Amino acid sequence: MLVILKDNYDAMSREAALIVVDRLRKKPNLVLGLATGSTPLGLYRELIRMHVDEGLDFSKVVTFNLDEYVGLSPRHDQSYQYFMRENLFKHINIPQQNIHLPDGMAQDIDGFCDWYESEISKAGGIDLQVLGIGPNGHIAFNEPGSSLGSRTRIKTLTENTMRTNARFFKDILEVPKYAITMGVGTIMDSRELLLLANGAGKADAIRAAVEGPLTGQCPASIIQLHRKTFVILDREAGCKLSGSYPGTWRSSFLLDR
Ligand code: F6R
Repeated sequence: MLVILKDNYDAMSREAALIVVDRLRKKPNLVLGLATGSTPLGLYRELIRMHVDEGLDFSKVVTFNLDEYVGLSPRHDQSYQYFMRENLFKHINIPQQNIHLPDGMAQDIDGFCDWYESEISKAGGIDLQVLGIGPNGHIAFNEPGSSLGSRTRIKTLTENTMRTNARFFKDILEVPKYAITMGVGTIMDSRELLLLANGAGKADAIRAAVEGPLTGQCPASIIQLHRKTFVILDREAGCKLSGSYPGTWRSSFLLDR
């Protein structure tokens, strides 16, 4: 695991973009795993900027998103389909048929989840998976207590996650209770992981994920077993990591674990 500490959110986002762009230039038909939420917005903005200013080409990229709320149609402004379209896809030249997100309106959810797993396999597996982390240590919607070998499936959101995500809805009662999510095992099959976190609200979860015991109570702690993971943090999210860090912060400080 390579932990990269940056001074602020913008620097974190630029560093993440450098990794994505490097992989994209090496493999134009990159299979890219994507996350929603506040954290990757800066990364997506940077990718869009590079597409517009420098002609960064997404025409062969294939994407798989981590999760989607059950019961929200792609037109709902809080669906992850909508989020991805507004914040990335409509601004770049990715063909519609290369985009995959879980279908929150699927009638046969188990059948859909099996199909999603098989599409990932058919694409050759995910090369690089972008991840955020919940304040409770979740990755995708794998909430504390999730089994660490899990595959794509339906999960019940915890009260904690519903409260956290209520900020995007008019009322907490509107927050869906269920989501379809890639499993921890699905995520771990990705060749590389790129976990991003910013803000003081993520500091405890990051400490637990990077330095804590490996446990389903902090699903993100599984990354300690992954062969190639980058964790890119801003100053606040990294502030509870152990004292093995030098006291001074550099613009890019790498800690190899
Ligand atoms: C979203 C996802 C979630 C978020 C996490 C952090 O696709 O998988 O695990 O990454 O809840 O959300 P933000 O970035 O909004 O703090």
